[in-house]
Amino acid sequence: MKKFARTAVGAASVVVLAAALGACGGDDDGGGSSSDSKTIALLLPETKTTRYEAFDKPLFEAKVQELCDDCEVKYLNADQDASKQQQQAESAITDGAAVLVLDPVDSEAAVGIVKSAQSSDVPVIAYDRFIEGADYYMSFDNERVGELQGEALVEATGGSGDILMLNGAPTDPNAAQFKTGAHKAIDASGLNVVAEFDNPDWSPDNAQKFVTSQLNNIDAASLAGVYAANDGQAGGVIAALRADGLTKFPPVTGQDAELAAIQRIVAGDQFMTIYKSIKTEAEKAAEVAVALVNGDDVGETTDFQGVKSFIFDPVVVTTDNVNDTVVADGFYSVEDICTAEYADACAAAGLS
Ligand code: GAL
Repeated sequence: MKKFARTAVGAASVVVLAAALGACGGDDDGGGSSSDSKTIALLLPETKTTRYEAFDKPLFEAKVQELCDDCEVKYLNADQDASKQQQQAESAITDGAAVLVLDPVDSEAAVGIVKSAQSSDVPVIAYDRFIEGADYYMSFDNERVGELQGEALVEATGGSGDILMLNGAPTDPNAAQFKTGAHKAIDASGLNVVAEFDNPDWSPDNAQKFVTSQLNNIDAASLAGVYAANDGQAGGVIAALRADGLTKFPPVTGQDAELAAIQRIVAGDQFMTIYKSIKTEAEKAAEVAVALVNGDDVGETTDFQGVKSFIFDPVVVTTDNVNDTVVADGFYSVEDICTAEYADACAAAGLS
């Protein structure tokens, strides 16, 4: 990138630039990318949501290897700690990464990372979560994700009764979009939100604690349903309801098509999840990163808030279409889902 950008400057400025670089001396060993580096840094936000280490990382690495023999992926996970992510990004830049693929813990704090990367001529791909000023962005239509979750809940509950709402982390811009989308459907129905929680770290444990504390005021059996923004939280919600004595659960939503969630759906414990083809997203990120490293064209993009973007479509999964979605797509095999514990439920759902 840097190399190509510089060939565009006029001859006179090249002389000035060369003199300036000479004066800096040693710039190549110090901070900033070296123009022939083919290191791609992949920075993911957390590990409690299974997608990151089970899918995003390996799919991204495999695609980079397939497209570029001499590229190297440097993988870093921030464990939901924004300052740790900041340090990881800084050291990736100092170590000469040519591109950052960054899924931010805190999208506002990540604006600083983008600025510092760009000042070292390192482009940034905002991965899954938007960052203002990034060079590229890729994600799903996240407001639509929330709408699909909300609509499914309205339909499954018949649109009346008391519900709890568990949203994602306020530092995650997707969480706000899921919440907006979900509210569109829920607020237009007769559902009554008794209590709502913005889970600071998306953690299943916090979700479980929130529901457990709400059950001091509300009778679990009287809940019409629970909106959980992702599967990790849905797991926490169902654990809390089970601990309170329920064996049959009201409709609970989710997102990510985590294996445990698909099994809960087949068993009838969780109502739905959202399947986002992580393969599509991770492979597109790998393609764009490799193109940037090699100075190639990244192909056609759409605009999302001023950033060149690739936006993919989410899909609703209920017990009726497990086979046609996650299984058909090779995300899981029937054997993955239908372990001994789920054999009967699988047979009943026609999954064997
Ligand atoms: C979102 C992401 C979801 C889910 C969640 C928890 O930003 O789009 O797929 O993983 O974070 O980390």
